[in-house]
Amino acid sequence: MFPADMVDAGLVILLAALGLLSAMILFQGGPRRTRESLFAGSLPARLALQGAIFLAFAFGLAVPAVIIVFNGEDQAATAPGGVHLSASEQKGRVLFAQTCAFCHTLKASNAVGRTGPNLDVFVPTVGSTIAARKAFIESVINAGFAGRYGQMPAEIYRGREEQEVAEYVSAVAGK
Ligand code: HEC
Repeated sequence: MFPADMVDAGLVILLAALGLLSAMILFQGGPRRTRESLFAGSLPARLALQGAIFLAFAFGLAVPAVIIVFNGEDQAATAPGGVHLSASEQKGRVLFAQTCAFCHTLKASNAVGRTGPNLDVFVPTVGSTIAARKAFIESVINAGFAGRYGQMPAEIYRGREEQEVAEYVSAVAGK
């Protein structure tokens, strides 16, 4: 929303600069005269004109460039329900997509697996805090699960990765 507006603003400024340049060329009787007025005339006037054109171009390129960079990060850290993902939760999201998503439904990951329980429904019923949910998910990943729905293999992830997935799922389940 906001970044897209900024890109638009940058492009508008760039187009305005091109328009200004064409207008100058037209009104002053061709490119040669324009060139002369850019490089002749009083020093302050020349500097002001060249500076304005330089700034307009620089801004028109710099603003979209900056926005593209920051927008990329912004998307990676955004999950549904206004959840902002930490760096380790972002890794957890990738890990979730690589395995858990095949068997579980989780809206935040657009996962629609039906082998295991729907985590949006199930996880919020576990404990009342995010920390309790995270600990529970870690223990499930660690031990695996065999129940009436079927089998979930043990130790799909271990250690750091196990924590990252659990952190991610506990943060977004039900959102
Ligand atoms: C091969 C399919 C499969 C994969 C992959 C899988 N699960 Fe499961 N999962 C299941 C099944 C089946 C159950 C439910 C067993 C039952 O209750 O009968 C389950 C249960 C669960 C439960 C709830 C346990 C309970 O107490 O009911 C959680 C939480 C869970 N999985 C999280 C994950 C996470 C996180 C991942 C990724 C690391 C994952 N699962 C990967 C099949 C899978």
